[in-house]
Amino acid sequence: MVEYTVFANWKMNKRIEEAVEFIEELTSFLLPIDKNLAVIMCIPYPYIDALVRKAEGGNVLIGAENVFYEECGEYTGEVSASMLASIGCSHVLIGHSERRKYFHENDSDVNKKALSVLRNRMTPIICIGETMEEREEGRVCTVLERQIRTCLAGIPKNRKLFIAYEPRWAIGTGKTPEMDEIENAHCYIREKIIEFYGETVSKNIALLYGGSVKPDNTFDICLLKDVDGVGVGGCSLDIDCFTKVIKEMIRASSRKYHPANEIAIN
Ligand code: PGA
Repeated sequence: MVEYTVFANWKMNKRIEEAVEFIEELTSFLLPIDKNLAVIMCIPYPYIDALVRKAEGGNVLIGAENVFYEECGEYTGEVSASMLASIGCSHVLIGHSERRKYFHENDSDVNKKALSVLRNRMTPIICIGETMEEREEGRVCTVLERQIRTCLAGIPKNRKLFIAYEPRWAIGTGKTPEMDEIENAHCYIREKIIEFYGETVSKNIALLYGGSVKPDNTFDICLLKDVDGVGVGGCSLDIDCFTKVIKEMIRASSRKYHPANEIAIN
């Protein structure tokens, strides 16, 4: 079973040659590494097809950074889940804070996108998290509760998916919450998933932390209760930085073993 998952979010970066070179280097880095680690690269649409082929047979999964929820029709410039599935995309990042901030996506859009991704046999990575203003007003739990309720509404019981807790103020800023704040948020998210959707759904949802993840904080974050891995933005653009994060996850996985949700720290 997969112990940890890491997803990269390249955002609007890299040229095709750089993207290909990165995946080649990453694939050879991962070759001798234990498969108990899922590495998902969420990359710009134009590169998905080529990089899915490049990654074939290796340990790297290729995902998208966004999707539109309709199947087809008059939606100029949009890309549907069935289009992504048809080129071998396996994961889709949904509701990233930059989508919410610049493109005004709300929780109900996120929900429709997640359902569409699941219908097309791919795995959604649903991003949730509070803004700085919400944090300062002491509304972290209220925001998370609302996001979990709306974003996950109607999800099928037996489908695996990811929730990425990414406090919006921690993205690209070099700032992270304190370790106990990350742990509390993850435990709260886990609790609410069980309360709203039940144990079966909860067992199929892995929780990832994202927001200024770097090699020097990965180990501590990964050891926290209810953290099943990390999401990496800026640092995932650089192969050395990204592979260091992966090495830290591997180091952490030798300290923490968690079949489903039972965690034992050595
Ligand atoms: P960051 O971005 O690692 O640069 O903070 C994280 C993300 O956008 O998912």
